[in-house]
Amino acid sequence: MAEKKYVTLKLEEVSKSFAKVENDEVTHALNEVSLTMKSGEFISLVGPSGCGKSTILRLVAGLINPTTGKVTVDDKEILESSPERGMVFQKPTLFPWLTVEDNIAFSLKMQDEILKIWREREQLAIMVTHDVDEAIYMGTRVIVMDANPGRVVADIKISEEYPRDRSSASFVEYRNEILNRLHFSGKKQ
Ligand SMILES: Nc1ncnc2c1ncn2[C@@H]1O[C@H](COP(=O)(O)OP(=O)(O)OP(=O)(O)O)[C@@H](O)[C@H]1O
Ligand SMILES: [Mg+2]
Repeated sequence: MAEKKYVTLKLEEVSKSFAKVENDEVTHALNEVSLTMKSGEFISLVGPSGCGKSTILRLVAGLINPTTGKVTVDDKEILESSPERGMVFQKPTLFPWLTVEDNIAFSLKMQDEILKIWREREQLAIMVTHDVDEAIYMGTRVIVMDANPGRVVADIKISEEYPRDRSSASFVEYRNEILNRLHFSGKKQ
């Protein structure tokens, strides 16, 4: 097995904006998002469409650069590789973390398979999901986001042993807390 590499991946006040196609306004896909993620963690990203989940995956894969702020691995900045820059920090395929996007909604068996791979590798995993139960079942942390501008509204540590029991009182409590954050984020205060 390949040597294990333990890393800290950070988004440091990352903003990403895109020009809108229909007019000359911009979309604030991410607004000053700061996140610190380490090997061994399983990060579940949840939030409504357009809150910037896929943008985070593309940033950490070095496919795009932030508009402002930095993405770093062990304090070294990841930059999108381009001929003008004349440098490639690391090829995305060599990044020591897993990113997962559940566009197809995983079966329960698939969830366990992904967890098994993650636990064997002791890597950092970052998963985008629209399924709150999946986020809690798998994550050591659930990051709840909201859109316009894309931002983090809650960072919830899931302190439960694996395998998790979807019907336990604590699981139900996490579910309620996250659903509450999803439904009310941006509307409070
Ligand atoms: N290349 C791009 N050009 C223009 N706008 C973009 C681009 N990429 C993303 N956006 C916009 O940025 C915002 C965040 O997009 P992103 O794809 O990260 O959201 P998401 O959370 O993954 O949403 P979904 O749940 O629908 O997949 C959206 O408003 C999207 O339209
Ligand atoms: Mg997406």
